[in-house]
Amino acid sequence: MSSTSFKVITIAGATGLLGFNIAEAFLNDGSYKIKILRKKPESENKNASLLASKGAEVIYIDYNDKSDLVKALKGTDVIVSAIGGTDLMATQSALLNAAKEVGVKRFIPSEFGCDIKEITGEVHPFHKPKVEFFKELEKSGIEYTILVTGLFYEYFEYLGFDHKNKKATFYADGNTKIVCTSLIDIGKYTVESLKLSEARNGIIRVAGSVLTLNELLKKYEEITAPVPTIEDDFVAYLIVSLDNKNLNNDKFSFTPRPVTEGISDLVKSKYWQ
Ligand SMILES: NC(=O)c1ccc[n+]([C@@H]2O[C@H](COP(=O)([O-])OP(=O)(O)OC[C@H]3O[C@@H](n4cnc5c(N)ncnc54)[C@H](OP(=O)(O)O)[C@@H]3O)[C@@H](O)[C@H]2O)c1
Repeated sequence: MSSTSFKVITIAGATGLLGFNIAEAFLNDGSYKIKILRKKPESENKNASLLASKGAEVIYIDYNDKSDLVKALKGTDVIVSAIGGTDLMATQSALLNAAKEVGVKRFIPSEFGCDIKEITGEVHPFHKPKVEFFKELEKSGIEYTILVTGLFYEYFEYLGFDHKNKKATFYADGNTKIVCTSLIDIGKYTVESLKLSEARNGIIRVAGSVLTLNELLKKYEEITAPVPTIEDDFVAYLIVSLDNKNLNNDKFSFTPRPVTEGISDLVKSKYWQ
């Protein structure tokens, strides 16, 4: 690992599920000044208040107003985008244009799933804004890092594992391997990626666990009751896109949380009761 010359990190979308974990990891690391961008108008938000109480500077901006963005980004070395929603392309493009103007050194786009560089042929509408934005980012000349993390542990229900009703639905062959990672580790991977030379204009691929759907089901059965099936094209597409080639886990300083911890958390979580 090399040391980082970055000092100021600006995180967009830090109030979201992913962004909050990334912002917390940066604040826990303690080496950087952290700014978080929130879209106007000002509104109460538990995550934003928590991050502010830990030292983040919260800045409200209008993503359609370039001067607003330029002012907010001044002094920023790295932008981490964890933006969600349907305007991903427009919002990240606005951020990128302002970033170029103020000399931001690196842009980590809102990816955190599969490797968009590996997507060939007709692009699924879900990935279209991500693929198009990546082309813009590459052209911009600003350094980038794409973090490929697979599915979040916290999203297993989406994959077909229904804790509440103790039912499992397979949307792909049970021998299909999936990559998955906990949000807390994704935060840590994002922070440490700044110290990796491979992350400069690179794709960093990490995994908390790599296992087949059958293996995941077995782990569920150890913790909760079993679960069987319906068809869904989109989920099937997502599962197949979660490949596990050339992982960079060995470049990082910590061991990720095992998948059983992720399952236990979900089962215990009030949200799933
Ligand atoms: N691999 C996986 O399993 C997985 C699962 C879920 C998501 N993801 C990816 O992770 C990323 C973040 O997803 P998420 O679910 O955490 O996001 P999210 O909760 O939907 O949104 C995160 C934050 O983005 C800001 N935001 C939302 N819409 C916006 C807009 N139109 N313009 C500007 N800001 C906007 C909001 O913050 P403010 O209101 O504070 O500005 C919001 O709290 C996405 O790229 C998503 O595809 C991956």
